[in-house]
Amino acid sequence: MTNPDEKIDVFSEARKIWTPPEEVRLRAWVSDYESVYQKAVADPEAFWSGIASELDWFQPWTQVLEWRYPWAKWFLGARCNITYNCLDRHVKTWRRNKVALLWVGEDGSSQVLTYGELHRQVCRFASGLKTLGIKKGDRVMIYMPRIPQQFVAMLAVARVGAIHSVVYSGFSALALRERIEDAEAKLVVTADVGFQRGKSIQLKAVVDEAVEGAPSVQHVVVVRRQSPPIEIFGPRERDWDALLKQSSAICEAESMDSEDPLYTLYTSGTTGRPKGVLHVHGGYMVGTYITTKWVFDLKDEDVYFCTADPGWVTGHSYIVYGPLLNGATILFAEGAPDYPDPGRWWKLIEQHGVTIFYTTPTAIRSLMRYGDEWPASHDLSSLRILGTVGEPINPEAWLWYHRVTGERCPIMDTWWQTETGMTMITPLPGVPLKPGSATRPFPGIVADVLDKDGKPMPPNKGGSLVIKTPWPSMLRTVYKDPDRYEQYWRSIPNVYTAGDVAYRDDDGYFWILGRSDDVLKVSGYRLGTAEVESAIVSHAAVAEAAAIGKPDPLKGEAIKVFVILKQGYTPGSELREEIKAHVRHTLGPIAVPSELEFTTSLPKTRSGKIMRRVLKAKELGLETGDTSTLEE
Ligand code: WTA
Repeated sequence: MTNPDEKIDVFSEARKIWTPPEEVRLRAWVSDYESVYQKAVADPEAFWSGIASELDWFQPWTQVLEWRYPWAKWFLGARCNITYNCLDRHVKTWRRNKVALLWVGEDGSSQVLTYGELHRQVCRFASGLKTLGIKKGDRVMIYMPRIPQQFVAMLAVARVGAIHSVVYSGFSALALRERIEDAEAKLVVTADVGFQRGKSIQLKAVVDEAVEGAPSVQHVVVVRRQSPPIEIFGPRERDWDALLKQSSAICEAESMDSEDPLYTLYTSGTTGRPKGVLHVHGGYMVGTYITTKWVFDLKDEDVYFCTADPGWVTGHSYIVYGPLLNGATILFAEGAPDYPDPGRWWKLIEQHGVTIFYTTPTAIRSLMRYGDEWPASHDLSSLRILGTVGEPINPEAWLWYHRVTGERCPIMDTWWQTETGMTMITPLPGVPLKPGSATRPFPGIVADVLDKDGKPMPPNKGGSLVIKTPWPSMLRTVYKDPDRYEQYWRSIPNVYTAGDVAYRDDDGYFWILGRSDDVLKVSGYRLGTAEVESAIVSHAAVAEAAAIGKPDPLKGEAIKVFVILKQGYTPGSELREEIKAHVRHTLGPIAVPSELEFTTSLPKTRSGKIMRRVLKAKELGLETGDTSTLEE
């Protein structure tokens, strides 16, 4: 892993700068980044309250920010509901008949929902939730494929004031159960199947296994896509369509305190179990609203396509909430980028006249491998703004993305995290870009690169990426674990430590180098070494395991594990495959290691902690750094 303590020197090679055409800058909501940034820094409360005033509140705030280190509250005393701003605010205007959602399924099916229709469906499902006894503060798990009902479920839960927790449908039953148990969820919403590369994934079966013996779960609501429909059993299961049909289309949004929880999203940290990062209605709404608007220069005439999955934070902030808060037309697609062929996304862009396209470096690299002919055979002239997220983008992939889309569109390389809720270091459409750099902080965000004692690093020297002041959409806590929340602000006192290593160049541009902790980024998906290891040691043959991330030209990082077997077991390819299958079952396909090496010892500190840093350095043929604490 990259260690900020080692003060890595970074060569500041001459970087190529690409300045977007002048008309891009002039057309953008923000055409003068510098002055907007300076104004926001000079008076952050005035800046954020000005933005909040663009939205509808049931009752205004009496105070913008209360900062009692390390705890923040925003828009104190205000009442609101994020779904009111996503739906009701638009249906009161001409946008009532504007397309909200253009959905395409992998099997070729499609659906178009206007704001009016989406509003009605959300109200119906929200009424249905009430009949199932769901009320303010209850937790609802959503384990669904990328279908319109996933939008509806999230919004309906938030509308009644309950807390949603979306679990990516690539996670296993055991991973889902762990999250259900932590959340003490009363309800699980799912679907019979999801489609991925022509195969149907049996989601309901996963839920059946996950809720078995989970006493908190009172109901399971199932969207049935297949015909003939799968059977629904038992008193606690409900059919989505039937529930909607029998429920009222009138359901006012619950009036929430701006600090009331909106959702928890489980994400991997350095140690142990995944943590439930908690976001609230008010501040999260303000942060996602303005970043979507400014970063993507979102306008009413745009068709916005983000390829993420709502199982991850990008889907929450930049498929569902941010775009809906702006009244956008959202293209939402199920399936993989290369199925049935690698032209899928380019074709969707052409077919629907997509103007804003937001995806991941891994996806770009995989499409790049298939060659230029796929993008070249589609008319991509509707595109005007591009984005990437989730992991550093290598300049080669950046330049390819830029070239095949016509060399007109600025690329918004957005750095942020589940915890930050919104994009934090990101270009705005008019600013000069350097391929591979996330450029500079969003207005209102104060970022820096520090050493471990909190001293600023000089330009071109790597250190810890930190945020120095609170922002509205920051996580408010880790669900049921306030100590873990406090660690973010205490590992370097007074600042939020992101867990990333970065440096700033002479122009103040940020370059993100990767994680400094034991978090892996595999295809942009976030996983903890601890989770992978605990899945592996739960196999009967395994005594100990250590997981590291290795640079991978496609996935960014690939998982390699070192395994010590219990006595009586012999290493072999059969056992290797069996352990991999076990990880698939315990955590899910995304966590399966690409390499598994049997070993007889692992480098450890005197206190018994595995030194993954040493393993990684050896694996990559690098210096092992300080090994004075190494025991074995
Ligand atoms: C990484 C995803 C470089 C980073 C929104 C961060 C990035 C982690 C970028 C959060 C980027 C995200 N450039 N690295 N543009 N965006 N990351 O919580 O390591 O799934 O800490 O949120 O992704 O991952 P998470």
